[in-house]
Amino acid sequence: MEQADLIWHNGEFVPWEDAKVHVLSHALHYGTGVFEGIRCYETEHGPAVFRHADHIERLAKSAELYYLGLPYSKEEIAEATRELIRRNGLGSCYIRPLAFRGYGDLGLYATDAPIDLIIAAFPWGAYLGEEGQKHGIRAKVSSWRRIGPGGLIPHAKASGQYLNSILAKTESTNAGYEEAILLDERGFVCEGSGENIFLVRDGQIVTPPHVASILDGINRKSVIQIARDLGYTVVERDVARAELYLAEEIFLTGTAAELVPVREIDDHPIGEPGEITRHVQAKFVDALNGRAEEYLEWLDFVEKPSEVDQASKVST
Ligand SMILES: Cc1ncc(COP(=O)(O)O)c(C=O)c1O
Repeated sequence: MEQADLIWHNGEFVPWEDAKVHVLSHALHYGTGVFEGIRCYETEHGPAVFRHADHIERLAKSAELYYLGLPYSKEEIAEATRELIRRNGLGSCYIRPLAFRGYGDLGLYATDAPIDLIIAAFPWGAYLGEEGQKHGIRAKVSSWRRIGPGGLIPHAKASGQYLNSILAKTESTNAGYEEAILLDERGFVCEGSGENIFLVRDGQIVTPPHVASILDGINRKSVIQIARDLGYTVVERDVARAELYLAEEIFLTGTAAELVPVREIDDHPIGEPGEITRHVQAKFVDALNGRAEEYLEWLDFVEKPSEVDQASKVST
């Protein structure tokens, strides 16, 4: 992975190589952490974090669901992130905040172990490749079902839960595919190992609902709004597996992958990215990069607007 200079660790900016934890940290043993994947984009007005407040809100909710009291306020986390990007001199980058139970108690009811918080920001390109974003990827329905609400909390973005995604991703990669699609416990389509899924059927955009054990994706929300604003009908409903094979178009959304068309699923051809996928993708990419006026409110500029103005005044 590409490194940056500094990582924010419990309130301090420490050199990348010094950001370490004890081997008996609770989260290392039991996965007791919650995290976010966030992206920052280089825009005309400098770096801007996409839907920053929504990500921090989800982090706080995930923490609450697993009884991990966040040791910093949402605003402190947001400001630490902006300052980290500034100090690292980054433009476009990936941001990874992680709150986890640290060192001090290895019992399962480990209230004596502190909650630690780190934030990393570093360059990271398109997760499923730029080629995938242009021409689509090949996906496979996993033999592993997505974790269900009876055992864990699909709504939370918790570290230990990603063993489920890792099993599915490993299986599909070893079988020669680029991504895995998981079904929920009931056998309906849920999502990719790290992305939400959309399909186009009879000209309508369809995506699985919350009861299908999806993660409430922030890009899913954004794409639903963008698609509706563009005049498409978006329906949240259960999707049968075979509907994937009958779909006119399929695409995935997620922070790491952004919007990626699917061109083949379980060896059924879907084809090159379709018209609706292309249309929504183009607007979505504009929104991410600060080129869509109507979605500028989704961007948290790393330099305050006054600083941006000052900088442009000085340079002119
Ligand atoms: C399992 C899973 N589903 C869906 C998503 C998409 O969520 P978002 O759009 O908030 O990145 C992610 C990525 O965070 C994920 O890990």
